[in-house]
Amino acid sequence: MRLIRAKDYDELSAIAARVIGAQVTLKPNCVLGLATGSSPEGTYKELIAAYNRGELDFSQVRTVNLDEYVGLEPTHDQSYAYFMRDRFFDHVNIDLKNTNVPDGMNPDPAAECARYDALIQSMGGIDLQLLGIGPNGHIGFNEPGDTFSLGTQQIKLTQSTLEANKRFFASIDDVPTHARTMGIRDIMQARRILLVASGENKAQAVKGLLTGAISPQMPCTILQYHPDCIVVADEAALSAL
Ligand code: GLP
Repeated sequence: MRLIRAKDYDELSAIAARVIGAQVTLKPNCVLGLATGSSPEGTYKELIAAYNRGELDFSQVRTVNLDEYVGLEPTHDQSYAYFMRDRFFDHVNIDLKNTNVPDGMNPDPAAECARYDALIQSMGGIDLQLLGIGPNGHIGFNEPGDTFSLGTQQIKLTQSTLEANKRFFASIDDVPTHARTMGIRDIMQARRILLVASGENKAQAVKGLLTGAISPQMPCTILQYHPDCIVVADEAALSAL
């Protein structure tokens, strides 16, 4: 695991965007695994700025997103499909046909999860997976549990995640209770991982990520076994170390 310390969120975002930009430059048709949430938002802004300066070309880039809420249409403004278009895809020259988010509306969860795993395989796997981290150490929506998940699956969100995500909805009752997420195996098979963590509310999770015993109770700890995992964290996120 390689740790890059950033002074604050802006510096973190600039560093993360440079890592992704290097990937796109080296392999223009790379497969990027993408994430939502406030952590990568600044990274997308920096990538858009680099695109506008003429430094990056996304025309051949293919993407697979980590997760999606169950029951939200892609047009719903809190769906992750909407987030990706709003914060990134609509601002660069990516071909929307090359972008993928799990379908939260498919009535058959098993079929949807199998379809998504097959899709990742058919793309040749993920070159670079961008990750945020939940305050409880979840990655994607892989919540703490008794085992590490394998492929894409439908999960029930924990109370703490519902609490953490309610800020985006009118009330906690409006937060979807289930989501579909790439599994831990899918994430671990990415050739490179880039995790961004910002803020004091991530400090315990980041401490676990970097120094904790590997345990499905803190899903991010499995990343210690990844051969090429880069963590970019700001001072607040590193404050428990
Ligand atoms: C969400 C997402 C994760 C994200 C995490 C942190 O629930 N499923 O992919 O990394 O929680 O979100 P944020 O970056 O907004 O703190």
